Amino acid sequence: MKYPRLGVNIDHVATLRQQRGEFYPEVSRAADICLASGADQITIHLREDRRHIQDRDVPDTHNECRKFKRPLNFEMGCSDEMVQIACNQKPEWVCLVPEKRAERTTEGGLDVVDPNNYLRVKNACETIKKKSPNTKISLFVEANPEVLKRCLTLNADAVEIHTGEYAKDFLNKKDLSSHLKMYREGRTIIKAQGWGYHAGHGLTLESLETLLSERQFEEYNIGHWIIGEALFFGLSDVVKKMLTLMNKYPLEA
Ligand code: PXP
Repeated sequence: MKYPRLGVNIDHVATLRQQRGEFYPEVSRAADICLASGADQITIHLREDRRHIQDRDVPDTHNECRKFKRPLNFEMGCSDEMVQIACNQKPEWVCLVPEKRAERTTEGGLDVVDPNNYLRVKNACETIKKKSPNTKISLFVEANPEVLKRCLTLNADAVEIHTGEYAKDFLNKKDLSSHLKMYREGRTIIKAQGWGYHAGHGLTLESLETLLSERQFEEYNIGHWIIGEALFFGLSDVVKKMLTLMNKYPLEA
């Protein structure tokens, strides 16, 4: 039986650390606890402005992942600097995201319908595949059919669907049917080419369960809710709780 995978995004551990500029709480320690508690991968986003994850966190976290034989999912914008770092570090996965300096978190997905953006993403994919052939690439996008079809023309392996709007509507108790319909249609497009279908952004235990029951996505990358709950219940217990829920929803019902 196959179950959906949980990637824990630990950027917010670094956010807390950078607030004081101290060396604690350590990001690699958080990775260790998440992986020891069963998380399937660790996600970190090295932003251009280094607001949370720092350069040294990338090899440190990758070493933790290697210790547990689990993938590092390295989230990054498509700048030359980030592409270079990915090519040197050779993570198991790269997730390409749009990055705007002023945003609080990643707003919206990659707009690969725009020709300039398309070219930037294309170049990033080509360079990474050439210099780190074992690195798989996911593209963080909205579940828009036109966008998804454009993605399939790129040298990548998966899409990660931006669930931010769905998650907000869930919290505001709004109708979710249009999101769920788009996710189902998106899966049909993506699976026609055998790519991975991942999801993430803004998810909580409750909003995750509705998606799990739809059995569309093979992987979820979740950070803010997990780290917030960890303040009250501890990181290990929160990761285990999420995995227990995920294991109730095998991918083939
Ligand atoms: N996936 C991607 C591509 C993201 O940019 C983020 C936010 O950094 C997440 C997943 C996790 O989102 P959240 O922290 O809201 O769970």
